[in-house]
Amino acid sequence: MLIAIASDHGGFALKETVKEYLRERGDKIVDLGTTSEESVDYPVYGKACGEAVASGKADCGIVICGTGIGISIAANKVKGVRCGLCTSVEMAELTRRHNNANVLALGGRTTEPELALDIVKTFLDTEFEGGRHKRRTDMLDEM
Ligand code: RB5
Repeated sequence: MLIAIASDHGGFALKETVKEYLRERGDKIVDLGTTSEESVDYPVYGKACGEAVASGKADCGIVICGTGIGISIAANKVKGVRCGLCTSVEMAELTRRHNNANVLALGGRTTEPELALDIVKTFLDTEFEGGRHKRRTDMLDEM
């Protein structure tokens, strides 16, 4: 799987941890920045990751800022993106099963790294259920 990943400075440390985990799994990564803890603007990175996924350049995306909130808002502005901010494994499972989320958002300052990796694993390994949920995700994609 090819995964696009991006963060602002608040998510940089967790982005590096997630990348290491993805490499261990054997996934391919396209890192869209940022490259340090120097202050940057999260909309730039949320948009870049969203566009990589919406264009088909990446199979799915992971975006990280301090809380995950701002960068998830940015990613969701890109048509075709369904970005879910997850703070638990259950949320990661449900945003895949029900929302067919194609981008995962995490909070680098609000979610411990160990939990974040469990969330990433669940997000990547859970399939969309389809059925009644497909009608709803189609509605989202029409917006
Ligand atoms: C940056 O200080 C912080 O505002 C950002 O990482 C994020 O938490 C925004 O939602």
